[in-house]
Amino acid sequence: MALPSTYADFYRRSIDDRDAFWAEQAQLVDWHKPFDRVCNYDKAPFARWFEGGLTNLCHNAVDRHLKDRADQNALIFVSTETDTETVYSYRELHAEVQRMAAILRSLGVGKGDRVLIYMPMIAEACFAMLACARIGAIHSVVFGGFASHSLASRIDDAQPKLVISADAGMRSGKVVPYKHLLDEAISLAVHKPQHVLMVNRGLADLAPVAGRDVDYASLRQQHLGAQVPCEWVDSTHPSYILYTSGTTGKPKGVQRDTGGYAVALAASMRHIYMAQPGETYFSTSDIGWVVGHSYIIYGPLINGMATIMYEGLPTRPDAGIWWSLVEKYKVSVMFSAPTAARVLKKQDPAYLSKYDLSSLKALFLAGEPLDEPTATWIANAIQKPIIDNYWQTETGWPIMAVCNGIEPAPTKFGSPGKAVYGYDVRLIDESTGEEITEPNKKGVIAVEGPLPPGCLQTVWGDDARYVKTYWSSIHGRTMYSTFDWGVRDADGYFFILGRTDDVINVAGHRLGTREIEESISSHPAVAEVAVVGVADQLKGQVAVAFAVLKDPALAASEADALKLEGAVMKVVDEQLGAVARPAHVRFVSVLPKTRSGKLLRRAIQAVCEGRDPGDLTTMDDPTALQQIRELVS
Ligand code: PRX
Repeated sequence: MALPSTYADFYRRSIDDRDAFWAEQAQLVDWHKPFDRVCNYDKAPFARWFEGGLTNLCHNAVDRHLKDRADQNALIFVSTETDTETVYSYRELHAEVQRMAAILRSLGVGKGDRVLIYMPMIAEACFAMLACARIGAIHSVVFGGFASHSLASRIDDAQPKLVISADAGMRSGKVVPYKHLLDEAISLAVHKPQHVLMVNRGLADLAPVAGRDVDYASLRQQHLGAQVPCEWVDSTHPSYILYTSGTTGKPKGVQRDTGGYAVALAASMRHIYMAQPGETYFSTSDIGWVVGHSYIIYGPLINGMATIMYEGLPTRPDAGIWWSLVEKYKVSVMFSAPTAARVLKKQDPAYLSKYDLSSLKALFLAGEPLDEPTATWIANAIQKPIIDNYWQTETGWPIMAVCNGIEPAPTKFGSPGKAVYGYDVRLIDESTGEEITEPNKKGVIAVEGPLPPGCLQTVWGDDARYVKTYWSSIHGRTMYSTFDWGVRDADGYFFILGRTDDVINVAGHRLGTREIEESISSHPAVAEVAVVGVADQLKGQVAVAFAVLKDPALAASEADALKLEGAVMKVVDEQLGAVARPAHVRFVSVLPKTRSGKLLRRAIQAVCEGRDPGDLTTMDDPTALQQIRELVS
């Protein structure tokens, strides 16, 4: 396909000549039957991409590469926790995925059935995702760091026929058992999956439940020579559900299609990540997050690359580990989060520079704001371009980036770049609801519909919630809200200024403060609680809770308060997972609220960060904020 000479032309065409643009990009993937229509936006804001087309994600990620790349590396699994390194060629990956697909079939899973995947970063998790895609089943991967309540609410929402899990993950040399959390989640959930397929790593007790739990290794043995053809599905057939936090306590199931997602990822690999087939891609995320879906599993494989799946820390056995993998597997593109770079920043940069990084084109960072000192430190340590990009679970691929694959462009510190092709990005003035066109003025980042291919189709099982949560109409134009503040400079570069809602970002992990509040409120001593995100040097943000006790005497002494803080943290650990545990739980006698009873979370956050809390004329009891001020000072 002929590439236009400038990014500005490329971008304009994606908006002004949308269908022709995307029809061209769609040539990057295989279609069993060509599509009839590029974008059907008749029922706005619901966009249907490549309608009438039949395709399959697994075919595009695996089978189509067998012709030219059967013996090329496809999946490189590295665990520094269990000292394992296993490389699967495309031929081997194809065989493993077919075995897994045959197992799924034998357990009664078919097209449209949901399969919940609750697994550590092991190769079998990749086989499981691809096997679901292969037979048209819809996977829902739940991050291994989430605990029983989080898992139960996802089981009830997705109603999986099957759960695939493992005995345990490992972190920093410690076994993190999964099975008991899963059993507890299933007992808490109203919906009961028919079967649980267990991968036994020999790390923790499996405690099999008779009639429900089945063993992966023995079933795999029965299906060694399995041949399971790809099920051709409509382009709009859902490929997966991925839960993410929002304003309310109930996580939203982001539903992704098949054809649009394949096209969006294939195009992004070339235009944004400058990644070529045959190279190796290394994303340090986790399959439980969107980056893992798009850029550990589907994107690199669709692009005919080898992908590295890494279980372990960036600093074990030492801070050179990731960079030794870059050297060993000739990684050309690396993708991580600013938090990981901040963790490395505490180490000697010699660990990074001692390896041959000549294969590496760039390190991409996303998921949270990238601060200048971190960007400079890591750029100096590895002597490679550091490229920020901004996106969301909802979009599945970048909204803002520098598209070096189209036209090399400079980066600006603190900016994830310009609007990416396909996204008609607008800034909206929150008070007037009008569009902001002048530069350097803060507004809510919005995208005029339709969202490009690859973005969420809807909220699983709740079209009304999808429309109500994300969409509004401005002078008859449908606008998707990102819930992020931003500004655009005169050159079209954006700067992200934080969330407009109660979502926080801890070490690149997206969490809802309402979910944490609900969990803390379930502690019998707690009357009410406010959780806010507070700036943190290492993690970007941490959650801090301010709780009012039913009986204040329970935290009368410092020792009592400490004990209670530990107990509250334990509740969060057990229900949501350690990932959501607040850094501090402080006890107060009253929370700052408006006279109508609305919690003033922003004012609490400002005080915690030493900023001016702003206009407090609507506050009911001014002493409430004073208490918090004293506690944090
Ligand atoms: O607030 C923005 C922040 O992370 C949110 C999305 O998180 P999640 O759904 O987990 O998806 C992450 C995909 C990379 C956004 O609404 N965010 C993401 N990228 C950036 C960012 N904030 C600043 N700079 C970024 N590059």
